Amino acid sequence: MRHFLTLKDYSKEEIVEIITLAIQIKKETKENIFKKYMPNKTLGMIFAKSSTRTRVSFETGIYQLGGIGLFLSSNDIQLGRGEPISDTSRVISRMVDMIMIRNDSQEELEEFASYSKVPVINGLTDKYHPVQLMADYLTIIEHDLQNNLRVAYVGDGNNMTHSWLMLAAQMGFELRIATPKGYEVDKDIYFEAMQIAKKTGAIITTTDDPKEAIEGATVVTTDTWVSMGQEDEKEKRIKDFKGFMVDEAMMSLADPKAIFLHCLPAYREYEVSTETFEKHSEVVFSEAENRLHAQKAIMVWLDKKRDEK
Ligand code: CP
Ligand code: NVA
Repeated sequence: MRHFLTLKDYSKEEIVEIITLAIQIKKETKENIFKKYMPNKTLGMIFAKSSTRTRVSFETGIYQLGGIGLFLSSNDIQLGRGEPISDTSRVISRMVDMIMIRNDSQEELEEFASYSKVPVINGLTDKYHPVQLMADYLTIIEHDLQNNLRVAYVGDGNNMTHSWLMLAAQMGFELRIATPKGYEVDKDIYFEAMQIAKKTGAIITTTDDPKEAIEGATVVTTDTWVSMGQEDEKEKRIKDFKGFMVDEAMMSLADPKAIFLHCLPAYREYEVSTETFEKHSEVVFSEAENRLHAQKAIMVWLDKKRDEK
């Protein structure tokens, strides 16, 4: 049985296999063909943090696959009142066929998975957001940018940045990360990504100069400067991130055919200018839609792996 907790655990071949399935499932969905890949299966969806895209895409996704999603807010289940994560996992995983969790801590997610009888999917933690990156990579392929891919990430060294690090490392593409001083990526995650990169040929660089990162990039991406749980630091962060807004002047340094990606929600005039966001909004909202298709593929893939055993 496999879980989907971080792309660190997924080889290039496996990522390609899931993305290929996502392309097929998306095509079927667009043709109004809803194959019941997971008939009568239940997906438990535990949310300890807010969500629009993750909730709607997983719930719709499992329904379209022939199953049903259970939305479990941590405020409403006993987990929020202190029931141990290990007990929550041992109970829920005896009743459902797959579990998606969005919570604060990657360590707790891993603890939950270690007790689970069914596949567990990371729906975002403080460290990683791997399902988002599968949607992002699907969007990159749809724009035929996967060859000679040069991604520039400009902004906070956060869960999105760490996920880009792992995707670049596994797929072997070039990733340039620009973060302000004091907001760099996690050192251990960077080290792990570099170890994988040595084998795959990925070129990963970091800088505190956004222009240096964007120069010639074929994909430019960013994320909020204030992630969920960091609201108290908002004012300080806005000051510290001065000069890191992706705007038209910055985009002019990228490859002329470059696309702009954003996992959303986007905060205009902070990490991205209104003008740049609107100019690239069609791609950004396709990226959001791709959450549905990519996650359906992840669920089908995990379900199949479980049956193989
Ligand atoms: N990008 C993303 O995960 O969005 P939500 O927080 O709305 O789920
Ligand atoms: N870095 C953001 C991503 C939101 C999808 C956060 O963790 O809030």
